[in-house]
Amino acid sequence: MSEQVPETLSPEEAAEEIDTLVRELTYHADLYYNREAPELSDAEYDRLFRRLQHLETAFPALLRKDSPTRRVGAVPLTDFSSHPHTTPMLSLDNAMNGEELQEFLERTERLLQRRKEEEEHASEEALEWTSEYKFDGVALSLTYIDGVLEQALTRGDGVVGEDVSENVRTIRSVPLRLSSPEEERFPLPERLEVRGEVLFRRDDFLALNEERVERDEPPFANPRNAASGSLRQLDSTITAQRPLSFYAYSASVREQVPFPDSHFEQMQYLHRLGFHLSSRFAICTSPEEIFSHYEAALVEREELPFEVDGLVIKVNQVPLQELLGARERSPRWAIAVKFPPVEAFTTLEDIEIQVGRTGALTPVAHLTPVPVGGVVVSRATLHNEDEIRRKGIRIGDTVIVRRQGDVIPAVVSYVAGKRDGSEREFHFPTRCPECNAEVEREEGEAVIRCLNPSCPAQTVQRIIHFVSRKALDIEGLGEKLILLLVEHELVSDIADLFSLTTEAVQELPRMGEKSAENVVSAIRAAREGVPFGRFLYALGIRHVGERTAKIIAEAAPTVEELRHLSEERLLELPEVGPEIARSVLAFLNSPAEQELLDRILAAGFHFQAHTPPTEHSTSLAGKSFVLTGTLSRSRGEVQEEIERHGGRVSSSVSKKTDFLVAGESAGSKVEKAKKLGISILSEAELRALFA
Ligand code: IVH
Repeated sequence: MSEQVPETLSPEEAAEEIDTLVRELTYHADLYYNREAPELSDAEYDRLFRRLQHLETAFPALLRKDSPTRRVGAVPLTDFSSHPHTTPMLSLDNAMNGEELQEFLERTERLLQRRKEEEEHASEEALEWTSEYKFDGVALSLTYIDGVLEQALTRGDGVVGEDVSENVRTIRSVPLRLSSPEEERFPLPERLEVRGEVLFRRDDFLALNEERVERDEPPFANPRNAASGSLRQLDSTITAQRPLSFYAYSASVREQVPFPDSHFEQMQYLHRLGFHLSSRFAICTSPEEIFSHYEAALVEREELPFEVDGLVIKVNQVPLQELLGARERSPRWAIAVKFPPVEAFTTLEDIEIQVGRTGALTPVAHLTPVPVGGVVVSRATLHNEDEIRRKGIRIGDTVIVRRQGDVIPAVVSYVAGKRDGSEREFHFPTRCPECNAEVEREEGEAVIRCLNPSCPAQTVQRIIHFVSRKALDIEGLGEKLILLLVEHELVSDIADLFSLTTEAVQELPRMGEKSAENVVSAIRAAREGVPFGRFLYALGIRHVGERTAKIIAEAAPTVEELRHLSEERLLELPEVGPEIARSVLAFLNSPAEQELLDRILAAGFHFQAHTPPTEHSTSLAGKSFVLTGTLSRSRGEVQEEIERHGGRVSSSVSKKTDFLVAGESAGSKVEKAKKLGISILSEAELRALFA
């Protein structure tokens, strides 16, 4: 290709050419991806694209946030940073049926009437509603400054979100630059916030899962998780390969600038700027219209490429929305009307017993594959023995399976009318189906457990847990490989992982030298710098989840201290009740577990030193502080620490203040805070909040 050598360009010339290329490529990409009306051949487009990439490499300072080259991803991050939302991302109240919807509509109308009277609101404008799909994806807030996408935040806890800008720049349906709309009435605002939902198509989701299973990676439970997992990749080139889409559902501007004052018109405005919207979107002026819109949507939903879990009904007029206001978590002017769960009939072919990490025997239903709400279901959990008995389900039954939201498919019931007498009752095994050891049902427990601590099925599950993402996060050690390692007797417990050699691993079927080497070095690398809490979680002690492990590790940050934990001490810890304490003590008092722990530690673990609060902690998110009196550190230092934890510091006490931090000889602010019922903290109490 006859590229002009960039060095012969001055930075000014390069900037000019980059500007032209960005504009042209943006224009043509829109024609190609959004309007399906390309004007350039693929080859010509590629040539321009590569030219731009070339110039950006030669002049890195000229790389722009709205460059189409960002669509392929950027340099990987080490972590996402947290940022507060300009206004909280609220949730929606739900109406589960027509009655609840009717109630909402009436209540809102009454409230509006009252508010109008109170505020002497003159307008007699009739209340209008909009109805649109409720997307079942991942919420995102996009900020455009002068038409350029500056920041994309996830919802987070609603107050503080994670910055996923680089990833979002790879999503084709997110415009990187907004071209000014044609109309003069509403020029592009200086700052525009667009909120919406990132979605994964159902067919893409199925294809992705197939690939993942092939590669020995765990499949995603549903399209929403696939969207979320794709969006939260530190390496945006991975996100770029995932077919994500963005659908907008709200727009806001901060300043008093001309902007459409109804939800419907705002959405039309976004559409003109290039955003995708709910395919069903209507203004309704009566409850009857809303109900008939709902009926039509119910039929249509199954054919949509995406999952939708209901409709959102909103007051159309923005001034009326403002008059109605919001509760702490949800606006008073909108409601989500949920669709009923998706169900299907199929045959229960068999019941298989799976042995889990803690030896629990779980019955799993094998079903004749059936599409349920767009996803083919062939397995479903039956929870436990009692559940099967309670439902009276037999093998061979026609059953109803249900999927809703992120729940694993469940067998709801059998269909009595379909029985022909050939159905068989299921008998729960009295021995472990994997190792033939005895099983036991503890008093008061629904779960039946295999009592053999060296049951190979348990070993496999314990190892899967040990290396999983939230535990030691050992890459390349998937379920299939773990099964092979156990089957070939290279590994019979977690500790054996650390004495694996490349030579031994590479003897396994379909294992090359390079992959074997990678796995072995990933296992070795996992011994370095693990926070002790994660290690404790990885051990898979019953009832000790991620959070509890962290709490225990804070109280006992070394193995020595862990081993000396008493029941009293455990019970003093936040969120640790008798059940957890008993389970931890059982682990500590079990000679077999302790011997295993010794062998794991002998592999040479170096734990991360006790971590101070992370830089992006959000423990004080949304909380407002005022400092007063003489503190033992400078005000600046204290303020910085509060902000590092997501809080804000302001200078005067008001109703909005959450805490007053009072040092020595504090004065009038304490009085004011007392009057307003605001919590007053000493420095020590503030430190406790940080922890
Ligand atoms: S409006 C202030 N419209 O549902 C109200 N939300 O349960 C803001 N969602 O966090 C939400 N589709 O992420 C709105 N058409 C839609 C929506 C929608 C999906 C999500 C949104 C929100 C959640 C609330």
